[in-house]
Amino acid sequence: KPLVVAIDGPSGSGKSSVSRETARRLHAAYLDTGAMYRAVTWHCLDTGVDLQEAASVEKASREVDLKISTDPDHELVSVDGTDVTLAIREPSISSAVSAVATTLGARAELIRRQQQIIADSGRRIVAEGRDITTVVAPDAEARILLTASEEARLRRRGIQLGGTQGDAQLQEQVLTRDAKDSTVVNFHEAADGVFTVDSSDLDFEETVEAVLAAVRS
Ligand code: CDP
Repeated sequence: KPLVVAIDGPSGSGKSSVSRETARRLHAAYLDTGAMYRAVTWHCLDTGVDLQEAASVEKASREVDLKISTDPDHELVSVDGTDVTLAIREPSISSAVSAVATTLGARAELIRRQQQIIADSGRRIVAEGRDITTVVAPDAEARILLTASEEARLRRRGIQLGGTQGDAQLQEQVLTRDAKDSTVVNFHEAADGVFTVDSSDLDFEETVEAVLAAVRS
């Protein structure tokens, strides 16, 4: 029977690794929607699309041949046939991705594609992002907001508070991205009917168990 698990949360909440493991345990597919925003960003930078021009970014998001694996054991993202699985994790993409995420026309296109992927999975999938519980799959069987304190989120990104200058810069980057993303999607508060899992004081295994418990409840 259908089991769509929608998981939202901010950067550093452990969302991606926890969602992937949850999918494995449920023998479900897995969709990392953030990877799709990153892939469109990579494509725009690669082809010289001006990220400040909404119409061009929207057009690029519609025309790009974007493939993403939904096998939780096999991570693969490709853009027009090029494997960008690793390239989309580069800091240059992380610092540019909010420009795509805040372009409403591009969001609409990616949301449409995400809904298609969920339908194609036979509705047995764990999908994670910022707006899955509210916009992409508000009708999901399980809807979870994975939160963590700011301190825990920065710690997971390997950033020491009061650490070196490099740490201060990274901290600034993560918090700036969250602030930009928050202007178009609210992923800091649980919408009605969404179950909150706070991972601040939980390790990886405990977080997966808390998510699975929420799915079963
Ligand atoms: O690196 P991190 O895990 O924090 O982010 P990600 O999940 O890879 O998502 C990258 C970016 O995509 C976010 O910073 C958002 O700008 C955007 N995003 C979004 O707007 N909506 C989603 N459903 C997923 C990601």
